[in-house]
Amino acid sequence: MTVEAVYLPDGSDPVSRSLLDDPRLRRYFEGFGTQPDDVGVVATCEGVDVGACWARCFSPDAPGYGWVAADVPELSIAIADPWRGRGLGTLMLRTLLDRLAVRGCRQVSLSVDPASPARRLYERLDFLHLGWEGTSMTMIRQLGTAAR
Ligand SMILES: CC(C)(COP(=O)(O)OP(=O)(O)OC[C@H]1O[C@@H](n2cnc3c(N)ncnc32)[C@H](O)[C@@H]1OP(=O)(O)O)[C@@H](O)C(=O)NCCC(=O)NCCS
Repeated sequence: MTVEAVYLPDGSDPVSRSLLDDPRLRRYFEGFGTQPDDVGVVATCEGVDVGACWARCFSPDAPGYGWVAADVPELSIAIADPWRGRGLGTLMLRTLLDRLAVRGCRQVSLSVDPASPARRLYERLDFLHLGWEGTSMTMIRQLGTAAR
């Protein structure tokens, strides 16, 4: 799902799984579930895992691309290509936001390419543009408010 979550402009070559060797990318999934703040949801269709939305906190010396603060989890999301555009991503994102709020998180961040269609999804669910990390936008959402 970390590979599926990489934004590809139309006409790009598929992402190579060797991307997963990148230490900065590995931070998003390595040992997931072993840190107390790790939280995620998986979408399944007829018993097949087709997507995931997950969040974890990063330390300032090993941040994610959308890092804001050590106590602000950063979320990732992907749906496998054939299942995109059917509402599953929205459902997973809303579910994760609710779960983070129940755990007492006040904010959640993410990183997105400004040209990615996923940006509309985040804006619709009240994520706000906070700043830039290279050419990617960092977005943040306050928690404890109902997602529309
Ligand atoms: C982004 C993603 C998780 C959304 O899940 P989804 O099930 O396709 O989304 P939904 O059907 O619930 O909602 C549709 C919204 O998702 C986004 N979306 C739809 N198809 C998409 C696609 N192929 N790629 C990226 N975003 C897409 C759009 O914002 C869309 O809203 P719009 O109809 O107003 O444009 C999924 O499309 C995906 O994995 N895309 C590729 C990876 C990616 O971009 N991940 C996010 C990295 S920041």
